[in-house]
Amino acid sequence: MTEVSNETRFLHAIEMGLGAWQWGDRLVWGYGQTHTDKEIRESFEASLTLGVRFVDTAEIYGSGYSERLLGQFLKEIDQPVLVATKFFPWPWRLTKGFVPRALKGSLERMGLEAVDLYQVHWPSLFISPETMMEGMVECVKRGWTRTVGVSNFGQKHMLRAYSTLAQHGIPLASNQVHFSLLNREVEKNGTLARSKELGIRVIAYSPLEKGLLSGKYSSENPPPGVRGSQYTELLKKLPPVLKLLQEIGLEHGDKTVSQVSLNWLICKGALPIPGAKNLRQAELNAGGAGWRLTEEEVAKLDQATDNIREYKKD
Ligand SMILES: NC(=O)c1ccc[n+]([C@@H]2O[C@H](COP(=O)([O-])OP(=O)(O)OC[C@H]3O[C@@H](n4cnc5c(N)ncnc54)[C@H](OP(=O)(O)O)[C@@H]3O)[C@@H](O)[C@H]2O)c1
Repeated sequence: MTEVSNETRFLHAIEMGLGAWQWGDRLVWGYGQTHTDKEIRESFEASLTLGVRFVDTAEIYGSGYSERLLGQFLKEIDQPVLVATKFFPWPWRLTKGFVPRALKGSLERMGLEAVDLYQVHWPSLFISPETMMEGMVECVKRGWTRTVGVSNFGQKHMLRAYSTLAQHGIPLASNQVHFSLLNREVEKNGTLARSKELGIRVIAYSPLEKGLLSGKYSSENPPPGVRGSQYTELLKKLPPVLKLLQEIGLEHGDKTVSQVSLNWLICKGALPIPGAKNLRQAELNAGGAGWRLTEEEVAKLDQATDNIREYKKD
């Protein structure tokens, strides 16, 4: 394993974060119907109270509303909060100059002078990892971000980003990827192991598989909206996994299915960033950190989910 660089060490010290896609998103998350600004504020405050001090947002969440809300909340609190946001490589963003320009917009929406982590949201067919990283270098030089990350990058793209930044003496801090007990692609294709070798923090998004690992959904009671059709097949295979999660939770003082699921990710060396729509969900999710499953329990959960979906090579 490569020595973790001083600049990115703080990310490796964080056990859990809070995702902010739910903040303003109507299409997938039903903002305005299932939750409003009041519930979002309460979930943010509960997270802080319980020691979660890392928030992940993006310029595209709620078309900028997520960043605006976070900016409002940050003005009202005393505790330091680490902020991560993302650059979206829209097809018309073809040069490196778009990266600092987009970050300037994010900083204005949040009322901040700098963020702690600026990530490229997705790789793109239109702009290379090298060009986007040159833009990121500019952001670091201007003091607008403390560290640089990528998201949804497979190993090849990740290594290209890593090398470009290395030429400027800047470490690649993180790769934010889809990772949960029900989606173990990054484990199976080697991205997790390679990231660890290079000192790149793996941030696990959709760590509760968009609510499936809360235990409240089933084939008879699927999640609402687009999530329902996305998960038809997975829901059929869910009951034995939920049963095992419940059994393991009981061994740890009645931890919930979602808490055990989040802890499994922490045991795998990832940083989960669950989304929460209200205070209760935020409180429960915070309880996924601060303790550890045994190696035997991790192995049992591995075995129970090994064949839950097909995995392709990177
Ligand atoms: N980089 C990327 O491309 C990317 C992609 C996706 C997400 N992300 C980031 O990752 C974060 C988390 O992922 P995610 O939001 O997709 O999914 P998630 O964290 O797996 O699931 C969040 C949803 O699960 C339900 N839930 C959460 N905690 C619960 C609890 N304790 N009990 C019962 N239900 C609970 C809530 O929805 P319901 O109550 O409606 O079920 C909540 O909105 C996002 O907010 C975002 O910051 C990044």
